[in-house]
Amino acid sequence: MRDQFGREINYLRLSITERCNLQCIYCRDSNDCFKAENELTAAEISRIVAQMIALGVNKVRVTGGEPLVRKDLEDIIADIARHDEVKDLCMTTNAQGLEKRVWDLRRAGLQRLNISLDSLCKERYSKMTRGGHLSDVLQGVEASIACGMQRVKINTVLVRGVNDGEIDDFIRLAKEYPLDIRFIELMPIGKLGEDASRRITSGEVLEGHPELVRIAPRDPNQPSEDYAGEGFRGRVGFISPVSHKFCADCNRVRLTSDGHIRMCLGHNEETDLRAALGRPDEVLLETIRNAVFNKPCGHAFETMFHSQRAMNRIGG
Ligand code: GTP
Ligand code: 5AD
Repeated sequence: MRDQFGREINYLRLSITERCNLQCIYCRDSNDCFKAENELTAAEISRIVAQMIALGVNKVRVTGGEPLVRKDLEDIIADIARHDEVKDLCMTTNAQGLEKRVWDLRRAGLQRLNISLDSLCKERYSKMTRGGHLSDVLQGVEASIACGMQRVKINTVLVRGVNDGEIDDFIRLAKEYPLDIRFIELMPIGKLGEDASRRITSGEVLEGHPELVRIAPRDPNQPSEDYAGEGFRGRVGFISPVSHKFCADCNRVRLTSDGHIRMCLGHNEETDLRAALGRPDEVLLETIRNAVFNKPCGHAFETMFHSQRAMNRIGG
């Protein structure tokens, strides 16, 4: 399906819950509490996904909150995997408790995992995530590779004054392991992100690393700009929504766990699909098509944009 600017929209970011077992400092406030009550059921998700696929979606990424907090995650994955049209079925996770479920997820049809990891130092990791266990992430990464997940990627949100001293260590990981490390620019969603002085640009990182040279992207629509050095087993990517806007190539539609289509991270407009869920498939399909058609041209991060949802309620 195409939007009003002619962009082909084929990538669904499917958030299945707002709940998360962590409270990362850049993602949400520590006192927020989210309940399961408003979540779409697996059957409702299945119906919406089928319509999205009928409209041309061929890549589905399951997100949260944290998708692993849903006990029916494996069923949701298996349901998506039965559609041959889906060529890329992936998930973004913080990997807490991943190790013991990763084989079941693989068997259900999950092909790929992107894993959030903001520090390689146990204490700092725990502080940034407000209680996460670094050992869980490391075991989760190893298990993901062992069970045959393709191209495991690590997402690292850089925050000045917090984890910027670890940039070299993360780059070393991409050199020594077959992992793509992606440095994500802090987005102005949430209190910490609205403080621009905390943001670290790719230019700053690259200045200190002349050994990194630009390489071709794996996928023409990917937000990350990829780099590698001589002898690297993995890549170093930069996702820089603020300093290097990539909206012109955006191919994404987002579904929130409470049933709203959100066409842009950096715009608050949403379309509620709940009413259409009570109607025939054609109505649901038309509602989705209209929402997608009206996708904004680009994010509004450079203005005084203030997101009405914290990141865990959108899915990144
Ligand atoms: P691949 O399918 O492996 O290319 O992953 P991905 O980068 O699409 O997904 P992931 O969930 O790993 O996202 C990594 C980071 O990119 C997160 O911080 C997302 O919030 C951010 N991101 C993904 N899509 C968009 C987008 O459309 N706009 C902006 N501003 N950020 C995005
Ligand atoms: N800025 C940038 N990335 C963020 N994420 C969550 N909040 C922010 C933010 N304010 C990232 C997480 C995860 C992905 C889904 O979104 O680290 O990797």
